[in-house]
Amino acid sequence: MSKLPDSPRVLCLANQKGGVGKTTTAINLGTALAAIGERVLVIDLDPQGNASTGLGIERRDRSMSTYDVLSGDCALEEAVKETAVPRLWVAPSTMDLLGLELEIASSGDRAYRLRNAIEGLTKSRLFRELGISYVLVDCPPSLNLLTINALSAAHSILVPLQCEFFALEGLSQLLSTVEQVRGALNSELTIHGIVLTMYDSRNNLSSQVVADVRATMGDAVYETIIPRNVRISEAPSYGKPALLYDLKCAGSQAYLRLASEIIQREREMRPVAA
Ligand SMILES: Nc1ncnc2c1ncn2[C@@H]1O[C@H](COP(=O)(O)OP(=O)(O)OP(=O)(O)O)[C@@H](O)[C@H]1O
Ligand SMILES: [Mg+2]
Repeated sequence: MSKLPDSPRVLCLANQKGGVGKTTTAINLGTALAAIGERVLVIDLDPQGNASTGLGIERRDRSMSTYDVLSGDCALEEAVKETAVPRLWVAPSTMDLLGLELEIASSGDRAYRLRNAIEGLTKSRLFRELGISYVLVDCPPSLNLLTINALSAAHSILVPLQCEFFALEGLSQLLSTVEQVRGALNSELTIHGIVLTMYDSRNNLSSQVVADVRATMGDAVYETIIPRNVRISEAPSYGKPALLYDLKCAGSQAYLRLASEIIQREREMRPVAA
């Protein structure tokens, strides 16, 4: 397996638990990174297509989707669409992705379909024109072949954890999958960090969960905590990221802080060669 190119940085948002904030983070972290000057592509790898919808791409406008890319029917650059956010693009998904696993199960490159597609993108004219610096991959709530494709293609994984009683449940399984992928498919894969989501300051349980997760996972947990915020949950129904819907709300501001923290962590993880 050839080395991943240094740029763009490929981060995947994964947690096999459903509803923990993967998609919300893909949309709003992507928007926040774009707002501070990065050039970002969100790849929707979930058949539910929530990242595509939340970024304003209607279903009828998804004639070329990540399904077509992974099944080999089109190049990734053909599926890339503009969003209402400057410097932010999305490769949308459709329900067809549900059938992909069976279709490619017996092909030798089944775990590398996304990695090869991103590599192809980096050689395209569109890539040079857009100057994409970050790729965020939104994964489905499962450790299936789609998520394995994302982990095989990524420099790092970012794990959203919801501030609820069973937050840590399932995390060890996810981390052991990361280990397996690192051993067999992608030796460069690192854990970028864990982002605590849907924090409710009126609820004692939330602060207990934060303390537990920090005690167990230490520095892997980002300082920034994403609060539970109604504006964040309203925004997707307008096809907009929360940062466009209400920039001042606590949730948008938290995602801007997370973006800065991620860029800072990137600098620490990849010190510039002297
Ligand atoms: N900080 C937040 N405040 C309020 N609601 C939120 C917040 N983050 C996410 N939500 C809501 O919680 C629900 C689940 O979030 P989201 O879709 O991002 O999770 P997910 O991990 O991508 O889910 P799935 O596993 O189904 O893909 C959504 O309705 C979303 O609007
Ligand atoms: Mg999702």
